[in-house]
Amino acid sequence: MQAITVLGATGSIGVSTLDVIARHPHRYRVFALTANSRTDILLQQCRQFAPRYAVVADEQQADAFALRVREEGLAVEVLAGVAGLEAVAAHPEVTTVMAAIVGFAGLSPTLAAVRAGKKILLANKEALVCAGQLFMQAVGQAGATLLPIDSEHNAIFQCLPYGKTLVEAGVRRLLLTASGGPFRERSLEEMEWVTPEQACAHPNWSMGRKISVDSATMMNKGLELIEACWLFGTTPAQVQVVVHPQSIVHSLVEYADGSTLAQLGNPDMRTPIAYGLAWPERIDAGVPALDLFVAGRLDFLPPDEVRFPALRLAREAFIAGGSAPLVLNAANEVAVAAFLAGRLPFTGVARIVERVLEQLAARPLPGDLSALVAVDALSRQCAEQEIKVHA
Ligand SMILES: NC(=O)c1ccc[n+]([C@@H]2O[C@H](COP(=O)([O-])OP(=O)(O)OC[C@H]3O[C@@H](n4cnc5c(N)ncnc54)[C@H](OP(=O)(O)O)[C@@H]3O)[C@@H](O)[C@H]2O)c1
Repeated sequence: MQAITVLGATGSIGVSTLDVIARHPHRYRVFALTANSRTDILLQQCRQFAPRYAVVADEQQADAFALRVREEGLAVEVLAGVAGLEAVAAHPEVTTVMAAIVGFAGLSPTLAAVRAGKKILLANKEALVCAGQLFMQAVGQAGATLLPIDSEHNAIFQCLPYGKTLVEAGVRRLLLTASGGPFRERSLEEMEWVTPEQACAHPNWSMGRKISVDSATMMNKGLELIEACWLFGTTPAQVQVVVHPQSIVHSLVEYADGSTLAQLGNPDMRTPIAYGLAWPERIDAGVPALDLFVAGRLDFLPPDEVRFPALRLAREAFIAGGSAPLVLNAANEVAVAAFLAGRLPFTGVARIVERVLEQLAARPLPGDLSALVAVDALSRQCAEQEIKVHA
């Protein structure tokens, strides 16, 4: 019986995780659930899954939530803030942590789980983008098990022999698929004034708003490129992004002998989540099998980095190293929030990220979390300033 903490339980990945868990009550027990502010959803989840702890990250809302929990007579202990998130991520009774908080906010609780040597199901790609070296060193030192949940990385993981480096496995390249998002065929001029609703209407995947916008700008693929480099110990030169509009092939591994292995399936995050939960076994995820006759054709195209400059910016930031990926991520989070709030045009997102990267040159990153928090804060300030001046 695995005891599971779901960080970001109220989000798209969190809800899908609980859906899979509910199908296997004899294998999985929910130990803790966390939210930022959507406490109505959290309360409903507490009724259904009876966790030992519920954490409200937004401290202003925690007391009111604790009162509602008491009034309902639920045996759930309510914790608040980052300290609460870290406590349930690292608790000795927890075996498995689903890291599904969106953005930089997910880094400290995920790192707490890593340092406590847990099995981590990593959806929060921003944690690796911002703190790749620190994060992977901590995984090694604590003996944590890191399983990728992002569908592309999960697919690559499924196509690789476990426990071997890419060189030992005879891997030539990783092929990272991208749907191309809702604006795949739009010109730059057409993209200038698209709305948040259009940007969040992903053609194949149902996801949270931030990752939906990242998908539309293709920053998501840039973040995933960095994530792949850290997870699989490789360089951007060995990772080819392939636009695949149908989102059926979730990624591929090209081997030295001419073989290319792929993982296919319907676009439903419950598949990689179930794989992570049960690994190395497989369990029912509630996802229907892929019908190849319905899928019909599968297309593959090169990415267009002129219309989607975010992909290039992410690659360059990873190559620059040090603080650059952290700066890229912070500027992107601020710019995406500004776009969603109607304060920045869609194409302004990549422009702001580029300007912030130009201003804050890459520096060596000290290996402690507080230093990362300081660089993140400075990058956010710089991005807000740029939005004021240029939006
Ligand atoms: N959705 C997908 O299909 C998908 C696929 C691959 C990877 N991912 C990755 O998985 C992560 C989650 O994505 P998502 O789509 O599930 O996002 P989402 O739907 O926006 O959910 C985000 C979760 O994080 C919580 N949260 C937000 N800000 C927080 C903060 N400051 N402190 C603590 N908790 C906070 C939210 O709580 P509230 O609900 O209270 O706001 C919610 O539970 C992202 O890193 C994303 O890139 C997602």
